[in-house]
Parts: sequence; C-alpha cells; structure tokens
Amino acid sequence: MRWKLCLVLLVVATDALAWGRTGHRITGELAARQLEPAVRAEVDRLLAVGAQTSLAEATIWADAVRETNPAYRWSTPLHWVNFPQGQCSYDVATCPDGNCVVAAIERYSAAIGDRQLADAERAIALKFLIHFVGDVHQPLHAGYAADRGGNDFQINYLRAGWNLHSVWDTLILESLELHWTAYSDRIAALPRAAEASELNPRRWAEESCEIVQRADFYPPRNKITARYLDAMRPIADARLKLATDRLAAVLNRELASRQK
Ligand code: ADE
Ligand code: ZN
Ligand code: ZN
Repeated sequence: MRWKLCLVLLVVATDALAWGRTGHRITGELAARQLEPAVRAEVDRLLAVGAQTSLAEATIWADAVRETNPAYRWSTPLHWVNFPQGQCSYDVATCPDGNCVVAAIERYSAAIGDRQLADAERAIALKFLIHFVGDVHQPLHAGYAADRGGNDFQINYLRAGWNLHSVWDTLILESLELHWTAYSDRIAALPRAAEASELNPRRWAEESCEIVQRADFYPPRNKITARYLDAMRPIADARLKLATDRLAAVLNRELASRQK
C-alpha cells in the first residue's frame, strides 16, 4: 500500500517545468537552421564541449539536470517568472535577486559570447540559454505565483487529469499527434512576425503574461475539450515561431566573429 501512496505523491509533486520536449526541440532545430555559418560552427563546437550532439536535443538538458542532478537544483526557479494578477509590466521587483527566466536569459546570453570564460562554462551557458528562450515564450512561464503558473489549476480533459501548465507545455502541441520534426516543418512555414526582431527578454515575458490575461485563457469549471486546444494552438504556434526566430537572432548576435 505504501508504494502506491509514494507514487501518487510523486506524480502530484512533479511540476511541468518547461514546454514539453516537442516545443523545445522545435525551437532548437529551427534556430539551428537560421545560424550564420561561423556562428553555427561555434555553436556546434560548444555543444560538443557540453557533450551534446545537436541543438535540438541540447534544449532538453536544462530540464533533465534540474530533475536528476541535485547539483543543479538551484536552477529550478530560473525556468519561469511570475507577475501579479492583472499587471504585466516587468520591473526589478518582478525578478527577485535575478532569480527568474528573464534575468537568466540576460546573464547566459552575455556569457556565451564572453571569450574570457572557459569553454566549459560557455557550453553550460549555451545549454541554459537555448532552453530558457523557449520557456519564456510559453505563456504560463510568465503567469501567477498563486497557482504556480497553472501547475495548481487542475484540468479535466477526456476524463483524464491534467493541469493548465501541462496543457500548455505538452497537450496543445502533442494532441496534433505529429512527430516533432513534422511539427517543426509546420512552424517553419509560418511567416516571420515583425516582433521577432524585438530582442528584449523582458518584453518576451510581458507578451507571455498578456496572453495569460486573455478572458478565454483559464477555462471555466476547469474543463476543456478539443475546442480549447484548437483555439489555443495558433497562439502556441506563434510563440514557438517567435522563440525560434529570437533564439537564432541572439545566437547570431552574441557569437558573431568580432573582427567583422
Ligand atoms: N513551476 C513551479 N512554480 C512555477 C511558477 N510559479 N510559475 C511557473 N512554473 C512553475
Ligand atoms: Zn524549463
Ligand atoms: Zn512548463
């Protein structure tokens, strides 16, 4: 009997901490395709230093280590930022002690281009950066502390138990039942948005927060159907496309060779 209780507690206690693997892999794969050749070579070199084989797979590392390696537990709060309900303007108080996804993106984007740092340190910065640029575009990574970004908002879907956070991390994308490479092609085909050239991570978090404020974002009576998934998927797709284009732009900016 006791192991069953443990299992239940384990499932309840596990947060969904990121876009699921599909969302992260898409962002990494499509950003890699947009890198300038010299930047691509430097990214590949740093990925090899960090024991990674592709940008797409390396996007998963930050979730894997925080779940399995106690030495990285400190990084857990860097996966999100919280805003007060009804208020999406970012200021220093939004990110206490720089312990949020926005400040993490600022720090790690500076670190990847800093040639004074050891390669091993730059390789870790790269793995964090490529994950957090994805996370900050998932609306509920910029939601409310009160329900831990939707993790505590239970959802009933097809008689199965979900929460709103995992619906956005995973269900909206995976309910199309496409392999992540096919989903990548779908995102690659979207037009580039004008806001893609906005390279301020504070704005990225504010945009996510503004999506959470929509009247139809929190479903009534904690219940959703395929209609909710279909209505929200274009928003999720547009966020993935922006994450992709902005990640590529940040990597191209930070890793461009200085002698140009
Ligand atoms: N995971 C755990 N707490 C969270 C929060 N406050 N916001 C988003 N994701 C979380
Ligand atoms: Zn994450
Ligand atoms: Zn998440």
